[in-house]
Amino acid sequence: MKKILDLLSEEMGKAFEAAGYDASLGRVTLSNRPDLCEYQCNGAMAGAKKYRKAPMMIAGDVAARLSESGVFQEAAAVAPGFLNLKISGAFLLEQVKKMREEAKFGLEAPDKPKKIMIDYGGANVAKPLHVGHLRPAIIGESIKRICRYAGDECIGDVHLGDWGTPIGLVITELQERKPDLVYFDENYQGEYPRELPFTEEEFAEIYPFASARSKEEPEYKARALEATLKFQRGVRGYRALWKHIVDVSKVDLKKNYDSLNVEFDLWKGESDVNDLIPEMVAGMKDNGYAYISDGALVVDVKEDTDTKEVPPCMILKSDGAALYNTTDLATIMERMRLYDPDEIIYITDKRQELYFEQIFRCARKTRLVKPETELKFLGHGTMNGSDGKPFKTRDGGVMRLEGLVQETKKEMYRKIREGRQMPEEEAAKVAEVVALSALKYGDLSNQIAKDYVFDIDRFTSFEGDTGPYILYTIVRIKSILNKYQEQGGKLEEQAFLEAGNLSEKELEMALVQFGAMIESAAQEKAPHRVCAYIYDLANAFNHFYHETKILAEENQEKRQSLIALLMLTRDVLETCIDLLGFSAPEKM
Ligand code: ARG
Repeated sequence: MKKILDLLSEEMGKAFEAAGYDASLGRVTLSNRPDLCEYQCNGAMAGAKKYRKAPMMIAGDVAARLSESGVFQEAAAVAPGFLNLKISGAFLLEQVKKMREEAKFGLEAPDKPKKIMIDYGGANVAKPLHVGHLRPAIIGESIKRICRYAGDECIGDVHLGDWGTPIGLVITELQERKPDLVYFDENYQGEYPRELPFTEEEFAEIYPFASARSKEEPEYKARALEATLKFQRGVRGYRALWKHIVDVSKVDLKKNYDSLNVEFDLWKGESDVNDLIPEMVAGMKDNGYAYISDGALVVDVKEDTDTKEVPPCMILKSDGAALYNTTDLATIMERMRLYDPDEIIYITDKRQELYFEQIFRCARKTRLVKPETELKFLGHGTMNGSDGKPFKTRDGGVMRLEGLVQETKKEMYRKIREGRQMPEEEAAKVAEVVALSALKYGDLSNQIAKDYVFDIDRFTSFEGDTGPYILYTIVRIKSILNKYQEQGGKLEEQAFLEAGNLSEKELEMALVQFGAMIESAAQEKAPHRVCAYIYDLANAFNHFYHETKILAEENQEKRQSLIALLMLTRDVLETCIDLLGFSAPEKM
């Protein structure tokens, strides 16, 4: 179905035309004075110059043409030349009915769906996820769901950091502690054991330990770099250890992402493109793009129009080792070969912006992508603590992501138990679901590039612009529907009647914004638009709920129509929260 503002603009355009003006002046927008009107059109102001007429006269001419309109119930010309509009209840009702009948609430499919690869999450093998990994995971997941819903083909890839020094550090420390492990015996020819050479506890502790030590001891660090080179080059024992480390990490990471309701289509990693590197490097050399500088292989990527220095993109280190750049470029090559996407989107902390600028330029220059392939970087801001600095634990350490989720669940549980009679076990289950909404909504309601403060008390509140408030609204609707059924009502009967009061009409007007909202959220890759929409919708619903008798409505037909409106509101809200990556409980 067509978007509501387009329909209104069409009707308005016809009126401009009928009055002798250009139809394109009839652009209708939401009112910025909701106390005066529902929609507005400023076309008369814009047309004044062209027609050398007072805007008020043009507005008057147009308004006169709309007196019989079936679309507008009221069109008033007001000084100095605005058109203040109210939509007709019957016309609005038609739109609501269409939303109910059509798939995806009438959202139109794109003319040309795109194939989009989304690279998000940012996890690294051997290192536990920390709070810094929250944002790329939940933003990426939401963008994937939004674009997919809007009709694009989306492939999410975690792009594991599984080829770098953290693994070399773990191997080096392991060798210190257990030099007799068969992996370190150069003469060993047999199969390597399937059992892990470390316990779970040891694995959790070994990387932070080794990382700290490497900062103190240059010699130790050098050995770690050597170990890194060895597993990358495929030295048998080192590669076998690498495999253990990757396998164990993946299990743990999957568990963590599962608990956040984040799921990847692909679990590829930097290591997957190792075999492509020689071919890519040769291509870059042969075509004269890459040259040796201070021993390293680089590609120049600066451009004349640069206002800041953009250093060359390093392809190989002087010892020949691959680095972050190398695997990212080879991954682009692989993605083009295997998937040929129209667009690749990267979501990481915005501190990687310059890095991706170099990568994108290098990929274009060396023709790893087609000229029309879009490469997009979405840099997110930092999640800060109440002191305005990047979020830390109470003792100043880096907090694990698991810890943050646990704390939010605890606080949510406390609030649920405090406010209502709910058995412990049920409250714990509900708290799990609601806590996720608190975390995700608290994050996604901000523009991606902005920093925000993680305010656990505000995020878990049932009031205000929060996830729990949205869920509370959905649960409220569900409980009315349950009561209706208990009283013998049937949910199948969907007969909408025209809104009976203003709050009902306002709820309908909020609902019909859905299609336009999804389109812009997908186009701009902006989950915060979904948040803003459901917050308005939830407010409109709650206002309607306070103003309207629903179950007590005596007219059966009217009662059924109110129930139908409730169901539509519930379905739209539940669809939207799914796009944000969380769900609602039955009770709370
Ligand atoms: N693992 C990386 C890090 O910790 C983030 C990966 C982002 N994606 C990419 N293709 N570089 O910084």
